[in-house]
Amino acid sequence: MKPIVLHVAAEVSPFHKSGGLGDVLAGLPPALDEVGLDVRIITPRYGEASKFASLGGADALKPWPVPLQITLAGQTIDVRVYEARTHRGHATTYFVEADHLSRGTIYGYGDDAFRFAIFGKAAVAIASVLARSRNVGPVKVLHAHDWHTALAVWYVKALASSIRGVPAVFTIHNLAFQGVERASSAPYLDIGWDAFHELFEDHGTLNLMKGALLVADRITTVSPTYAHEIRTARYGHGLDGLLRWLAGKVRGITNGIDVHAWDPASDKHLPAHYDADDLEGKAACRDALRFDVGLRAGDAPVIGCVSRLTRQKGIDHLCDVAHEIVRHGAQLVVLGEGEEDLEHRLHWLQTAHPGSIAFRRAFDEALAHRIYAGADLFAMPSRFEPCGLAQMYSMRYGTIPVARATGGLVDTVAPLHNIHDVGGATGLLYASDHADGLADALHWGIDVVRDRGALHHMRQNAMRADFSWESSARRYLELYRELGV
Ligand code: ADP
Ligand code: GLC
Repeated sequence: MKPIVLHVAAEVSPFHKSGGLGDVLAGLPPALDEVGLDVRIITPRYGEASKFASLGGADALKPWPVPLQITLAGQTIDVRVYEARTHRGHATTYFVEADHLSRGTIYGYGDDAFRFAIFGKAAVAIASVLARSRNVGPVKVLHAHDWHTALAVWYVKALASSIRGVPAVFTIHNLAFQGVERASSAPYLDIGWDAFHELFEDHGTLNLMKGALLVADRITTVSPTYAHEIRTARYGHGLDGLLRWLAGKVRGITNGIDVHAWDPASDKHLPAHYDADDLEGKAACRDALRFDVGLRAGDAPVIGCVSRLTRQKGIDHLCDVAHEIVRHGAQLVVLGEGEEDLEHRLHWLQTAHPGSIAFRRAFDEALAHRIYAGADLFAMPSRFEPCGLAQMYSMRYGTIPVARATGGLVDTVAPLHNIHDVGGATGLLYASDHADGLADALHWGIDVVRDRGALHHMRQNAMRADFSWESSARRYLELYRELGV
């Protein structure tokens, strides 16, 4: 029987997703299955945020026959678990439902630490049941993603259970979110004072990610450049010293993308299809996108952006340069939601430039696909970017990314140096952390779009680049092998 690798994560697309984390948990498991592992995923079942249409509805979930009760800070909490064969038959997913945890949205509540402590306990309980079962292979690794699962790593190490001693891998998808609480919360999350002082204490607060980094057997992050950056004060979000100290167990493995779900030749969200050999459908997608979002018809280059609206993503810089982009004859379409001041600025820009700037404040998977396909350029002015999937989706759809040279953007975009000698370039990278740097890069991008030869060459490069999960899965397998898989 194949060895089991148990992934624990707050997001798994297409069930529930707020960003790239969900996409990683959609794309990586099938690739790990292909290299010979039995991949099982543990994730919450939320309220409205969880959607089961891809399984044909929630009826496809089988209630788990094993009753689960967990205790947290001396209280008993009932947990319901549902099981389904997912990922086109490549994985099994366990959905955890419990009071507090199973709310309408994924995050954003004042008691998130408590909610994800319930989830962490449930994950360890499920893992223990699997470890005792004779019908499945041995549980070899627990692989936890981001701070929401930091407590799962801690409970595996600390609780007397049948999976105590199973090695744990912790993946940092975003170091900006660490799960920081008041120190007085520790006992309510089953963190004793000794453990608090030894592992979780961070300048007088309780830092859940810090504890997980210390107890995990391996730490990964989602690109080699980010693995390096997080050891610096500029990108380390206060944990750079610790990460320098732990450098020996840190690895950077670049994410892939699900090339079946993201394929311009068959994407069900697109009005027309195309591939690298025949790009006619892309022009049709561009016209349809303009019509959809209210941009004027014509030949103006279209700059797209699909993003969480946060400072991380540099959306303030995009707003800063928007008037200038329009003066340069380009159009801009932004899809996203997030910080309110950025939403207001984008609404204003749309009002100031009707027909040239379009803003959709929504989380809309179908429109996201239509923007990746219909735009000429894709703006990604990130202040930091652990990996970034959006630039890979745009390249796959023949849309040239214009991105700040940071994190995974450096590892996935081959930068243009000379418009007269495109070589292997797939996108534009700029180094400056000022809005002017973005403005210059976008102007350059607009020049590329107007130079048919250079544009065609870059599109070919971008669409033929290999972003599949296979090579990343092999890197994870090597890492698991170090841990005895
Ligand atoms: P992050 O995880 O930091 O948000 P990534 O580039 O890794 O950044 O992944 C973002 C994912 O979320 C992509 O799949 C992107 O298309 C999607 N996304 C972001 N905002 C929206 C939105 N408003 N509507 C639809 N999809 C979105
Ligand atoms: C995080 C990062 C993003 C990365 C994603 C998936 O949300 O911000 O850069 O692509 O996780 O790993």
